[in-house]
Amino acid sequence: MEVFTEQEGHVIEGILRTPDRSLWYPIFQGVPCFLSGPMQPDLTEFCARHGLQKPAAPPSRPEAREQAKTNQTFSDKWRRFKQYGLQPEHKEFLFGWYCKKLGVPDLAALKEFYGSKRRVLEVGPGSGFNTRFIAENCPGEVFALDVSDAALTTFENTRDLNNCSVVQADLMEAPFEDNTFDFIIADGVLHHTPNTRSAVEALYRKVRPGGQFFFYVYRKMGAVRVFSDDYVRQNFMPLSPEECYAACEGITDLGRELSRLNATITLEKPIPVLGIPAGTHNVQRLFYYNFLKCFWNEAFDYETNNMVNFDWYHPHNAWQHTNDEVEGWLKELGVKTYAFNDANPNGISVLLTKPAA
Ligand SMILES: C[S@@+](CC[C@H](N)C(=O)[O-])C[C@H]1O[C@@H](n2cnc3c(N)ncnc32)[C@H](O)[C@@H]1O
Repeated sequence: MEVFTEQEGHVIEGILRTPDRSLWYPIFQGVPCFLSGPMQPDLTEFCARHGLQKPAAPPSRPEAREQAKTNQTFSDKWRRFKQYGLQPEHKEFLFGWYCKKLGVPDLAALKEFYGSKRRVLEVGPGSGFNTRFIAENCPGEVFALDVSDAALTTFENTRDLNNCSVVQADLMEAPFEDNTFDFIIADGVLHHTPNTRSAVEALYRKVRPGGQFFFYVYRKMGAVRVFSDDYVRQNFMPLSPEECYAACEGITDLGRELSRLNATITLEKPIPVLGIPAGTHNVQRLFYYNFLKCFWNEAFDYETNNMVNFDWYHPHNAWQHTNDEVEGWLKELGVKTYAFNDANPNGISVLLTKPAA
């Protein structure tokens, strides 16, 4: 490592060279960046500032071009919403949801869960609110890895914690030894890669034998919801982030108005062809889960609610999966111990343990 600038124990600018010195990776804004090919940021100014030759382009995988498109969505999102999840009014909702996803009863149990880990990796941390919570409650080392500029936001939001490091890299090429982590968490991330199953496998390799891995991926919804997801995505994906935020506003307004109705209806008979069960349904939830994703939660301001809808409709990749499909992947990996925690109808939450060697 060559250090150019340092602040409060962090290398803010520098480079990492491979042992044969044929390649180097930049560290800027406090974050080592291991991206290559179409995902690599423009290093012209960095090279000029430090008298460096641009690094020889390392071989880039064909999927990197696809991943680069997804990065545009998330770099934009996490540059705008830097405080997501860190504001007190977000925490109750988000950490309540984490408890359900990880299958623990309450916040105290969630803290205890992290208290027993020595080396944790959060993949796709977004703003880093969860990385921060993990690092505050884990006695060991915590790492965060994100492929987009979310890595820079996460660094800003965790830099005061001395057990936390952030890298910018594609999870398919995570710069860590295999069998390293006690716990890896990838919440709402793997379905945004070119291939969710390959992403599960790539991270599973990094878990130590006997360690645990949590991931949450989108669940395949009923026929009408799948149709409207595809239709709206086809129309919104080609838009610039700015245009897409504007286009989402009508959908966000619809979510707000349905939610403020605060109404329920009772269906005596199920509608199996659409995947709708019988019973009493909140009207907004019924519409949201079965017809059109139109998120609204009073805990968030208008822009944040609209961002959640943007996050659904804009990314280049956003795969949806079934329980059987995910269970098949786990079997192929030789996983024997796992739980599917039913946190909401929209996603599949998996907590697995890698067999001890
Ligand atoms: C929907 S956000 C979720 C953020 C956070 N986990 C949360 O729940 O708020 C998805 C994140 O995954 C990251 N991501 C997507 N593909 C990735 C990849 N191949 N490697 C690493 N991070 C990735 C994105 O950059 C983005 O920050």
